[in-house]
Amino acid sequence: MVKTIFSGIQPSGTVTLGNYIGAMKQFIELQNDYNSYFCIVDQHAITIQQDPQLLRKNIRSLAALYVAIGLDPEKATLFIQSEVPAHAQAGWMLQCVAYIGELERMTQFKDKSAGKEAVSAGLLTYPPLMAGDILLYGTDLVPVGEDQKQHIELARDLAERFNRKYNDIFTVPEVRIPKVGARIMSLAEPTKKMSKSDPNQKAFISLLDEPKVIEKKIKSAVTDSDGIVKFDKENKPGVTNLLSIYSIITGESIEELEAKYEGKGYGDFKGDLAKVIVNELEPIQKRYHELMESEELDRILDEGAERANRAASKMVKKMERAMGLGRKRR
Ligand code: TYM
Repeated sequence: MVKTIFSGIQPSGTVTLGNYIGAMKQFIELQNDYNSYFCIVDQHAITIQQDPQLLRKNIRSLAALYVAIGLDPEKATLFIQSEVPAHAQAGWMLQCVAYIGELERMTQFKDKSAGKEAVSAGLLTYPPLMAGDILLYGTDLVPVGEDQKQHIELARDLAERFNRKYNDIFTVPEVRIPKVGARIMSLAEPTKKMSKSDPNQKAFISLLDEPKVIEKKIKSAVTDSDGIVKFDKENKPGVTNLLSIYSIITGESIEELEAKYEGKGYGDFKGDLAKVIVNELEPIQKRYHELMESEELDRILDEGAERANRAASKMVKKMERAMGLGRKRR
């Protein structure tokens, strides 16, 4: 039987090269072999206050980017989370299966709430919503970057707990993390993850950055004073990060790249890397701008919501029946 994959991205800012390499590139490979669901998780985004107009814009922009990088709507289902009510319904039921203690232990919650006075309850209950996203579709595999691993493990725990306590209805999903590029680092502080919510614009490359901006950001990326292009996570995190990005985009191995830049300084290396990134992103950006103006995108999202609603509402009914909610239908 064909297996199912599910993954989601928050429309909470511009999509970065980290999102692209850690997650989206995998989606495009996998859509050929799996029954695929890709989601714009707008309900996750509001766990942190968003500007409503900007959120709307980011939702459309993310949808266009999914298609521009090569998501094929004939093969994969692309949809917006809030257009499929089953997600909020499943999220609530799973919140009632999750324990506060395990939610408080999530590192993302700890990071995002640290030092803040007013933290939304949604930030704490975010992982059961995410578990619902995944479990609604009988998902076998969840392709994500390294930072989401703990959330997928929680989704597995919740699936097993629900199956044991109520009825055995959920597939327990596996996580899929790429071997290289699972954690692309900030260009400004290479010991920190590249993040779309980083206030320092120089820390990340957006998929929509113009060639000149990309060049500037790569040129100013923090490295070290060795002048040697060598992969060494511990001692040369900046260069190592740039090498990983280069290797993933071109398919050249790290060893090949080290040999190519032996005896050359960072100037050549960075100049070439900027070109490599620009070449990768140019066709994506062109397609993106066409899509943003088109009705095609709305058709894709309408159809995606319909397909997702059909699958997810069935599972929600199963969950409600298992938990004893509502009335028995005659
Ligand atoms: P989000 O929106 O933060 O990130 C989307 C995807 O990009 C990956 N990623 C990275 N990979 C490598 N290097 C980086 N620097 C980097 N930054 C981000 C993330 O691991 C992720 O795969 N909670 C999720 C969204 C979500 C979801 C889901 C994912 C909601 N429901 C169900 C999978 C399944 C999130 O905030 O991702």
